[in-house]
Amino acid sequence: MIERAEGIYIWDASGRRYLDASSGPMAVNIGYSNPRVLGAMREQMARTTFAYRLHFESEASERLAAELAALMPAGLDRVFFVSGGSEAVESCLKLARQYVLAIGQGGRTKIISRFPSYHGCTLGALALSGYTPLTAPFEPMMRSMPKVPAPTAYRDRDNLSAEERGLRYADMLAEELERQGPETVLAFIMEPVGGASTGALVAPDSYYPRVREICDRHGVLLIYDEVMSGAGRTGRFLAAEHWGITPDLVALSKGFASGYSPLGAAVAPGWMVEPVLDAGGFQHGFTYAGNPLACAAGRAVLAEIVERDLMGNAARMGEVLRARLHELMELFPFVGDVRGLGLLLAIELVADRDTWEPLPPAMNAYERVTDLAYERGLIVYPRRTRGGFSGDHIMVCPPLIVTDAQINEIMEPLTDSLHAFAREHDLHGA
Ligand SMILES: Cc1ncc(COP(=O)(O)O)c(C=O)c1O
Repeated sequence: MIERAEGIYIWDASGRRYLDASSGPMAVNIGYSNPRVLGAMREQMARTTFAYRLHFESEASERLAAELAALMPAGLDRVFFVSGGSEAVESCLKLARQYVLAIGQGGRTKIISRFPSYHGCTLGALALSGYTPLTAPFEPMMRSMPKVPAPTAYRDRDNLSAEERGLRYADMLAEELERQGPETVLAFIMEPVGGASTGALVAPDSYYPRVREICDRHGVLLIYDEVMSGAGRTGRFLAAEHWGITPDLVALSKGFASGYSPLGAAVAPGWMVEPVLDAGGFQHGFTYAGNPLACAAGRAVLAEIVERDLMGNAARMGEVLRARLHELMELFPFVGDVRGLGLLLAIELVADRDTWEPLPPAMNAYERVTDLAYERGLIVYPRRTRGGFSGDHIMVCPPLIVTDAQINEIMEPLTDSLHAFAREHDLHGA
């Protein structure tokens, strides 16, 4: 039972303190109880907590849209506010569909995504997600959408260079487009840096421009799901910036409001929005979309990210934390990989580093290590790596305000938890 939270710490009702090294679900980018955000919310609450979007504009939502657009790649300046990541993804899909209808390409209905991946829990976003335990119960209710393998190049054992592997994974999209008939495909959606479903997967650099090129060649829209990777977490405002890519649509949430209020956004360029408006408007919307209280919180969160250079801190502290996580590979033979960008980082646990054989699924290593950490007052975030049924990884993603000293506070209980886990299963090796 939570009592209160401040900075990167949470206290439970019994007074125990936890260090939140996963920022909740990789969401609380600026830390808890930020005075500036709370102040901005109080000020907005004193004016109004609600304005229905079709009756009134609000200063909070208008200004947040402009401030967000200023942080996006050039051209991505039309913002549709929502209340979370799944809603942001759904909004991107539906805007993309209305755009192709408006330009006379109504035959485009399929959205290609990757396996594993996660795009949300609503049926549209879930149909694009590749994490079997979450999708299986609903399979008969969803339209089946084509999947291509996520670029897990780190596991490949071949003679290709990283660059060649990146191109090979991107070309799997081209092959899938040919199989589907490119004129039937509306969009390709990807997490530029993977989230919980892959454990912060980063593709080889060559993957990103080639995917952009393939989408352009076939008139397929490129959607970046930056719900987790956006809002500064990887050291840039969008992860897309690491490769200089301008996607056609971007979904944002999580760190964008940092847990202060339910808020997300679908961001699109004018060339996509204008034909939809001319054709009668976006046939989509949520009661709470553009909520002034959420937008006031979002404005203060963005101001904190920019003015305190939290993106710079994410890049710097990300390097420090990544180096420390790498040291775990020397201590524990079952720590197979450390990956990610900025403060979107994960460690993968394996039975054999050479063959990438996973630990026995029944061992539930991902959950066990997380429980051991929790007992030690440290919160990390566990998931399966291979689409939900096997493979173990743990996300280590503290808020972007984390300091050098706090990285020590993370590493100590984490290392201790891995020792405890190794003792339970006799995994210390030589
Ligand atoms: C990449 C990505 N997309 C979409 C979502 C869905 O967001 P929400 O849980 O806010 O609906 C998540 C949530 O984990 C995510 O990581």
